[in-house]
This record gives sequence, structure tokens and C-alpha cells, in this order.
Amino acid sequence: MQEDAMKNIFNSTGHYLKIPDVTKGKGAYIFDEKGKKYLDLESGVWCTSIGHNNKQVNKTIRKQLKKITHSGFCHNSRIVDSAAAEVLDITEMKDGKCVFLCSGSEAIEYLRQISKVIFKRQKTLVLHDAYLGSYSSLNERKDNWHIFNWKACEECKDKEDCRKECEKLKNIPSDITEFIFEPGSSSGFVKFPPKKLIRNITDTVKSNNGLVLANEVTTGIGRTGKWFGFQHYGIKPDMISIGKGIGNGYPVSVAVLSKKMAKNENLKNFKYMQSHQNDPMGAAIAKKVIKIIKKKGLIDSSEKNGQYLLNILTKLTDNKKITAIRGRGLMIAIEFSSKKLCDNTYNKLIEKNFITCNRSGFLRIDPPLNIKMKDLNRFIKELKKIIN
Ligand SMILES: Cc1ncc(COP(=O)(O)O)c(C=O)c1O
Repeated sequence: MQEDAMKNIFNSTGHYLKIPDVTKGKGAYIFDEKGKKYLDLESGVWCTSIGHNNKQVNKTIRKQLKKITHSGFCHNSRIVDSAAAEVLDITEMKDGKCVFLCSGSEAIEYLRQISKVIFKRQKTLVLHDAYLGSYSSLNERKDNWHIFNWKACEECKDKEDCRKECEKLKNIPSDITEFIFEPGSSSGFVKFPPKKLIRNITDTVKSNNGLVLANEVTTGIGRTGKWFGFQHYGIKPDMISIGKGIGNGYPVSVAVLSKKMAKNENLKNFKYMQSHQNDPMGAAIAKKVIKIIKKKGLIDSSEKNGQYLLNILTKLTDNKKITAIRGRGLMIAIEFSSKKLCDNTYNKLIEKNFITCNRSGFLRIDPPLNIKMKDLNRFIKELKKIIN
């Protein structure tokens, strides 16, 4: 079946194709060619933050199509600047600047390049399990990277009271140019580094004049019950990368710079010439998505519905089948005692028309922020049935 549906496609996603012919999406659902309807609890790849085939977003697309989709480096349209104003409002980056790009990986790559030009050198600090995207410049972490392994911090008895005198913190080099912090996904494993640890790392980096880049590609746009994941940490980033959910499935991302950074003299001659940066279509969609999330109060829904789901799922933890439940907002992981049990549960859920993300040993759930309560309850009921 897989071969048939992907005759001409080189599959490099690392994932096995489960539904070969998706013909339609609607809200939290996708449909196959036979009309079979699946509840998409993964929002594609965490992208459809306000549901597939969203009517209001479609209207914006149609409207923008009739005007202009792509303009060019020397001619732009007002919609891009007004979309940037919306992004700066929700990121609390007053008087900062935005650049609209095409993917999460690209926004991070862009900001890392910016940082390199500011400092005229580079040493990036990341947590050992941080995922930054699919570019080799972000994955091949060698000489100009410092990897902070926080595994021990997870179990540390002082984690709530993490101290700057700790050896691990003292080992952070003084020449870090930027700390790229992913506030909660950690390679999709839904892990949340301790707040005090993150505050100590950011303080250390900032006290040496380094920068903080909040990677909000997955955790942004309401996923964790706040607009951005960094807001759970009481830190103030200098740069923010936003992707996935801001386009609701359309490939648009945003690199955000603080006012101070945008004014940096060294950036005057910075060049990045990707053909689709600041395209009006992507910007129009991002602006609309933000507007809908605001109007419908979806940040609150994410927080409340996430907590509801988390509370019920936590009761399923029995240390025999389910060993842990982790979550923040509508970003939840169900950890199983074995990979086999997880695979079986995943396959049975698909048979019953529920899509989750199988991460070898745990299932991840990140539904659209506007998922209906009755859909969450249907999922809980089915999961309980399968597990028992
Ligand atoms: C935390 C995180 N950062 C960055 C990316 C890269 O985003 P994209 O796949 O849109 O390039 C991803 C993608 O899954 C991600 O999960």
C-alpha cells in the first residue's frame, strides 16, 4: 500500500505511511479516499493549530490570492508589516522586528546567522535533547556548540532550587553567543526542563553578554496554554523562532528580533536572500491565525482542556502499562512500559480512527487548540478500552 501511494515520492521523513490517501481535512478530522474519518490528535505535524480546512483562514487565503501571493525583495505589501505588528504584540517584543520565512528550521537557522554576524564568531549552547530542525547546520553539533546535558538535573533533589554554584552551570563556557532554548518539546518527548535551571542558564549566558533564542516552533502559538512556552519560565528572550501553528498548515514561519538586536550596528550589512521571505500570503495567514486564536480565546482553551486531559490520563498511570504522563497545555505524552505495548496501542487507535504520534515507547498528543470536548472524551474512552 505504501509503495503504491508513493510511487514517485522519495520518503525521507523516517516515518511509515499509515493513511496513503488523505483526501480532505475538516477541523480536528482528516478523511481518506473511502470517506473514513480520523480524529487527528497530532494536528498534522503540530501545524493545524486551529484545525484543518479552517473556513476563516481559507477566506483570508482566497482574498489574498486575488491580490498578491509573492512580491519580491524590492517591493512589498502592507499586510506583511501589519502581520509583523501582531507577532510583536503577542511576543511582547515591543519595537522589535520580524522576518517571515517558510519553516521552523529556517527561522532558527536565520537567527543563528544573525547572532554570528553580531558577535563575529559563534558558540551555541543547547540542551542535549533539543531539536532545532532538519538543516545540517543545526544537527551537526561539533566545534562551535556547547551541549548541556540536563538528564541529571531532571532527577536532581535540588531541581526546584537549582543553584548557580552547581558544577554543571559553572562548566558553561563564558563565550556562548546564544542559548537556543526549546521550552518543552525536547525532540518531541514532551519534557519540561526545571524552571530554575533554565533561569540560571539564561542568567549565566546573559551575564557574559550572550543572547537567548526561544525556539517556539512547537511550543508557540498557544500550544502550552500560554502564547509561548518561554512564558512559563519567567525569562526574556532576545530572539524567538515561530513556525508550525502560526501557518495552520501553510508553510510560514517567523524570526523575531528584540528592539536592541534589530538596532545592532553589525547587522547593517546582514544579507539573507531566500526568495519567499516576507511573502504577503504567508504573512496574511499568520495574521489571521493570531486573530482567530485571540478572538476565540484559544489560549485559555489550550490551558483548560489540556489540564482536563492531563488529569484524566494521569489516573491511568499504573507503572505496569503506563509509566508516565507528561504535559503542558495541549501537548501531552503518554509513556508506556514497553515499545511493543506502545506500538500496539498506536495501531489499535488508528484502527479505531484516532491518530496520535508514535515516538517508540510513548504516544504524543497535540490536537488543534479548538478541539471539541466530546472529541477528547471519545479519545479517552477508546484509549481506556484498548489499554484494559
Ligand atoms: C522544536 C522544533 N524546532 C524546530 C523544528 C523545525 O521545524 P520545521 O520542521 O518546520 O522546519 C521542529 C520540527 O518538528 C521542532 O519540533
